[in-house]
Amino acid sequence: MTNGHFIDGGAVAPSSGEYFESQDPATGETIGRYARGNAQDVDRAVQSADRAFEQWRSLQPYQRGQRLHRLAELLRGDAERLAHLETRDCGHPLTRTRRDIETSARFFEFYSGLADKVYGDVIPATNANLVYTLREPYGVTGQIIPWNAPISQFARGAAPSLAAGNVVVAKPAEQTPVTALELARLACAAGLPPGALNVVTGFGEEAGQALVDHPKIRKITFTGSVDTGRIVLSRAGQRIVPVTAELGGKSPFIVFADANLEAAADAAVPGLIMLSGQTCSAASRILVERPAMGAFVEKVVARIRSSVTVGPGLEDCTIGPLVSNEQLQRVIGYVEEGLREGARLALGGKRITEGRLGRGYFFEPTLFTDVDNGMRIAREEIFGPVGVVIPFDTPEEALAIANDSDYGLVAGIWTGDFARAHRLASRLECGQIYINNFRDVNVEAPFGGYKSSGVGRERGVEAMHYYTQLKTIVVRT
Ligand code: NAI
Ligand code: MG
Repeated sequence: MTNGHFIDGGAVAPSSGEYFESQDPATGETIGRYARGNAQDVDRAVQSADRAFEQWRSLQPYQRGQRLHRLAELLRGDAERLAHLETRDCGHPLTRTRRDIETSARFFEFYSGLADKVYGDVIPATNANLVYTLREPYGVTGQIIPWNAPISQFARGAAPSLAAGNVVVAKPAEQTPVTALELARLACAAGLPPGALNVVTGFGEEAGQALVDHPKIRKITFTGSVDTGRIVLSRAGQRIVPVTAELGGKSPFIVFADANLEAAADAAVPGLIMLSGQTCSAASRILVERPAMGAFVEKVVARIRSSVTVGPGLEDCTIGPLVSNEQLQRVIGYVEEGLREGARLALGGKRITEGRLGRGYFFEPTLFTDVDNGMRIAREEIFGPVGVVIPFDTPEEALAIANDSDYGLVAGIWTGDFARAHRLASRLECGQIYINNFRDVNVEAPFGGYKSSGVGRERGVEAMHYYTQLKTIVVRT
């Protein structure tokens, strides 16, 4: 199947005539050809969005909300087909991609309800003037989407942007272009004006960069690596354009000896392996109070051995393959580096090569012990099912190790002592702290990073503020 961009309500062939292939990471097979976008295609999409902007913003806010709500319903109605497409494109099990479609629907539902609740303040001023503020949309917003949870990441940015009255041009990751095009089609079917949600497929350095640099893009949403985030933020800085950036993590999962170790181990397993570890909020650094260390590692290893199956996402399994050969090689490289640095494998460590799994990019759930926080496997985001375990002796030491990271996205705290948990939560340099649970949140709670993990917040009411600009009006009375 050959696919164009989605611009102005329909498929548009790439101006260069060139296409790239998307692969099924479970088999290495090609699943379709996708338009290789360039600056000309991006310009066409942005001009179309710019025309749609007046139409979209001139609707009554509640009417915009109704259409976004309709989009949520269309996503639900098409969930099974979309989940299959997403699984073939990015590899995650159907159980997971079904949830991602539901999460996408929830994003549109949640923000549809906020579309007519975007308002400013009346400000008591020192003079007799009437001073009030308006929250206005930016206009055309650009969104660059990663490959690890493609459709829900798209919905996470597009829903609040559209609800606030903006229009969107999105560039999905070259590894996973499939469901972005589907979402844009459904948006038109839901009554969004043609051009309000356009998708240009292609590579980061071509289509992505052209989007960031386009003079009519007034706001950018980026999710991906720190290195690419730096490029996007600095190029946007050249044009004085705000960026919401979500850039990954190396999240500490802190287990005290007085914790319910069974519950902590139950949560550590999905924390480590969910999306095959290809998530910014993976529990990739497990810090354990020394007396509980042996028992905890044993529990986690036993649970993974007995309950986690690796396989093609279309079949019954817990986790699928890594998204690409490139990502597989990156993960293999980190495991080799960990062994060189002197860490010890408590579990896994290898690509799965037996039988038909050998055709795909499958990797065993992997756990390192004897890890020092200075090692590269403890400092850098691996983005595979690879965890490291680091012991600590005191709460102060746990805090110091947890905060000794360039990242600051998520932290988990497991303890029976709530006073200690709150004390620690207030001093951890992370955007999200989970106490005696891990990532048990949905679309309602704000999400974002401290330090190199990002700028701005997504999800929740909070995210709406990042898609509006404030205008202050002063009236002489
Ligand atoms: P990446 O950051 O290069 O790609 C993410 C998106 O940015 C893709 O759509 C890509 O096409 C686009 N992009 C790349 N270069 C660009 C540029 N110069 N201008 C504009 N857009 C550009 O991530 P990559 O290389 O695929 O993965 C590398 C590592 O990044 C992973 O191993 C992981 O550690 C991290 N990552 C983190 C994610 C998160 O959720 N925070 C998501 C994806 C990757
Ligand atoms: Mg890249």
